[in-house]
Amino acid sequence: NGHMRSNLVILGIETSCDETAASVVARDAEGRGTILSNVVLSQLEEHSAYGGVVPEIAARAHVEALDTLIEQALVEADCRLKDVDAIAATSGPGLIGGLIVGLMTGKALALASGKPLYAINHLEGHALTARLTDGLGFPYLMLLVSGGHTQLVLVRGVGDYERWGTTIDDALGEAFDKTAKLLGLPYPGGPAVEKAAAKGNPGRFNLPRPLVGETRLDFSFSGLKTAVRQAATAIAPLGEQDVADICASFQHAVSRTLNDRIGRGLQRFRALFPEVSDPALVVAGGVAANKALRGTLDVLCTRHGFRFVAPPHVLCTDNAAMIAWAGLERLAVGMEPDALDVQPRSRW
Ligand code: KG4
Ligand code: ZN
Repeated sequence: NGHMRSNLVILGIETSCDETAASVVARDAEGRGTILSNVVLSQLEEHSAYGGVVPEIAARAHVEALDTLIEQALVEADCRLKDVDAIAATSGPGLIGGLIVGLMTGKALALASGKPLYAINHLEGHALTARLTDGLGFPYLMLLVSGGHTQLVLVRGVGDYERWGTTIDDALGEAFDKTAKLLGLPYPGGPAVEKAAAKGNPGRFNLPRPLVGETRLDFSFSGLKTAVRQAATAIAPLGEQDVADICASFQHAVSRTLNDRIGRGLQRFRALFPEVSDPALVVAGGVAANKALRGTLDVLCTRHGFRFVAPPHVLCTDNAAMIAWAGLERLAVGMEPDALDVQPRSRW
C-alpha cells in the first residue's frame, strides 16, 4: 500500500456484552501498535446477583457509562476527536441492546467529526489482538474460549478467517459457570472452579470427554455439565472436599478435551502450511485466564513445535483496544469504512 500513512490513530468502542470499554490505539508504518489508553468498566457487580448477564441491565449500564468512558480514553491518550483517523465500534455479535448503544455512539461521533467509521466484528477483535501484543504474522490459529464463545479459528489475514471448530452446545466459560452454580460456588464460576480444583482430586470422578477422537474439530460441553449434576446429586449433601474433587475432575476432563481437539487443529495447520516455520496458537477469552488449561495448551504447543501466545489478561477478555486495533488493521490495508446506516448484528 503505497500511500500508507506513517502513523494512524483510532478510537475504539466495545459494548457487546457486560463490559463498557473505550480505547485509543496507534499503529506505525511498520505495523506496530501502541495502546494509548484502554478503559474498561465491568458490570460484573450489577449482574452477579442474577448469576449471569441480564441484557436489559447491561444495555442501561452501557448508556450510562459510555460517554464518560470515551472522554476518559481520549484524555488519557492526550488526544482529541479531531486527532483520530477513524472510529471503530463493535457491531456484533452480542447482546443487541449494548450493540445499539455502542454502534450508535460510534456513528454519532463519526458524523460529528467527519471521520470514517469501522463497524467491527467482536470476534475479529479477539482474532487480531495477538498482532497488537506480539506482532504475530499471518497465518496462525486462535482459540477463543469465553462465556459466549468457543471457537478454533484459522486467521489467514485481515478479514480472512476460517472457523475450524465451535461448540455444538454450551460455551466453555458457560460450562464453568453452570458447574459452579450446581456446586453452590459464586458467579462468575471460572475463577471459583479453578480455585476449588487446586485442592481436589482430578481422578475421583471419571467425567465424559465429548467428541474426543473425532476428526471434526468441534466442541461439546453440555454432557459434562450433566455429569457434574449427576455426581453432585449422588453424594449430596456436598462437603468442601467433594466440591473440590468435582471441580478438579471437571477441569481435568476439559483439559483432556482441549488437548485432543486443539492437538488435531495443530496437526491440520501443519499439513496445510508446511512452509510456516514459526507456527503459533493464540488464546483469547476469559477462560484463557485458567492456569491449568493454559498449562495444558502450553505443553501441547511445545510438543507440536508451536509457539503458545497468551496476550495479557486485560487484552484476552473483552476490551476496546482490540476493536480499535481491528479497525486500524482494516484502515491500514485500505479496506473501505462502513456506511453510517450500518446495522448492528446480534448474531454475526
Ligand atoms: O471473555 P470473558 O471475560 O467475557 C465474556 O464471555 O463475556 O469470559 C468470561 C468467562 C466466564 O464464563 C468465566 O467464568 C470464565 O470466562 N473464566 C474462567 C476463568 N476466569 C474467567 N474460566 C475458567 N477459569 C478461569 N480462571
Ligand atoms: Zn469477547
